[in-house]
Amino acid sequence: MGIATNPLRAGMGAVRRAEPATLVIFGAGGDLTRRKLLPALYNLSCDGLLPPNLSVVGFSRGDQSDEAFRRDMRQAVQQFSRRPPDRDVLERLLSRTGFIGADFDDPAAYRQLSQRLEAIEQEAGAGKNRLFYLATPPFAYPVIAKRLGEAGLNSPPAGGHFARLVVEKPFGRDRASAVALNQDLHQVFAEDQIFRLDHYLGKETVQNILVFRFANGIFEPLWNRQYVDHVQITVAESIGLEGRGGYYDRAGAIRDMMQNHLMQLLSLVAMEPPVSFEGNAVRDEKVKVLRAIHPFTPKQVARDVVRGQYAAGVVDGQPVRGYREEPDVAADTMTETFVAAKLAVDNWRWGGVPFYLRTGKHLAKRVSEIAIQFRRVPHRFFQSLDMPEIEPNVLAIRIQPDEGISLKFGTKVPGPAVRIRGVHMDFQYGSAFEGASPEAYERLLLDCLTGDATLFARVDEVESAWKLINPILEEWSDGSADPPAPYEAGSWGPEPAMAMLERDHRRWRRL
Ligand code: BG6
Repeated sequence: MGIATNPLRAGMGAVRRAEPATLVIFGAGGDLTRRKLLPALYNLSCDGLLPPNLSVVGFSRGDQSDEAFRRDMRQAVQQFSRRPPDRDVLERLLSRTGFIGADFDDPAAYRQLSQRLEAIEQEAGAGKNRLFYLATPPFAYPVIAKRLGEAGLNSPPAGGHFARLVVEKPFGRDRASAVALNQDLHQVFAEDQIFRLDHYLGKETVQNILVFRFANGIFEPLWNRQYVDHVQITVAESIGLEGRGGYYDRAGAIRDMMQNHLMQLLSLVAMEPPVSFEGNAVRDEKVKVLRAIHPFTPKQVARDVVRGQYAAGVVDGQPVRGYREEPDVAADTMTETFVAAKLAVDNWRWGGVPFYLRTGKHLAKRVSEIAIQFRRVPHRFFQSLDMPEIEPNVLAIRIQPDEGISLKFGTKVPGPAVRIRGVHMDFQYGSAFEGASPEAYERLLLDCLTGDATLFARVDEVESAWKLINPILEEWSDGSADPPAPYEAGSWGPEPAMAMLERDHRRWRRL
């Protein structure tokens, strides 16, 4: 039996056991399943973190045999696992894997699923714990939930068992559709059965934000408007659409990244210390941050939000075409591939401290970081020395790649003259810890199985984030808004994004 250690659960160092269960993956033929879920299951299995009798049922369109599905799984693990496959571990996992090929809307398929679950549970001698994972396009979420309910699969069988639903982003495409989706899901599943997955929360570096802030005495006293000048959150990608033009052109950077991943990072950086590390206590504090941010007025959207769209350029030494030339993208599309925004968290801790967020595709490089820039020294007693202004201290939390944390401070350059230069104090995961960190999906799948919702978005979190994004969407869909500003693929984004910070006498960090 695997033992899972999760320091952010019921107190530091708490240990929980993953219960015997059956995982049903809807959309089992899709990319997410192949690239992320199956490799995550395999790696959890290698680490002895899954219960030995965990069974997996793939549910997808198509008429595949159990054997054919296992073959696909084997290939997916071989191709995408972070560790080379160990035959014994993989074959053990595959031996408890089956497939149901049916339409998501077919009631008979859910009766078949129900019978299959009974049979599996009887044979494995395992509990009747069921985890339903929706790895499908979002339009299928409501119908799958409804059919599960009709088949009686939504309520946990008696005897302390569970029935849980995992939903992937996007949760809606604006506030109204997110509220409607939540209502549909709540018709069938209670909130504590629903796990809304944002894979950024599963990243080790993101989990470490809370540990860094609240397990160390020296940073938290500085973490406020008295000492912090501003915060920058960057999630830059060098990749483009990766064959997802159809989806992306309907989403854009604001729905694909800003509403979820960047808002999660912002909440973790800005939140108050929770009363405990119990799931709802943490999420209560994150929601308060989102509620403290004023929704944008039309004037603020025009001034404090910049959208951009990449034009042809060169990324990683390779020429790339412009966004409008991409397959499955409308030739006159107004969809943004870059967005930058300035937000104000209007509470006692952060009043007057701007939070600058930016994200985009086909930028100069892949790098995600949160930078806390501290105020400049109050008294320039070096001013007589005729040297450039002293750089402020910056604490940079590097989310990926080269995961780590660095603190920049001024140091005297050795020599007879007083010259000051910024240097870095660095912590790097790669050199401090042995072995690769688990992938986000490993941690999150395990949490679904153990029932820890701390790292999942609660209904009010999702709706509060949409409340902030909605006015931007409304302004942009109004024909009078400025179109996305072009930027060259491989650059750091459009000029107006630079101008937004220059107006405030600041600049984006060079990463
Ligand atoms: C996904 C987005 O949620 O996150 C993708 O849909 C994006 O467009 C991806 O590329 C980025 O994730 P990561 O973990 O590579 O930073």
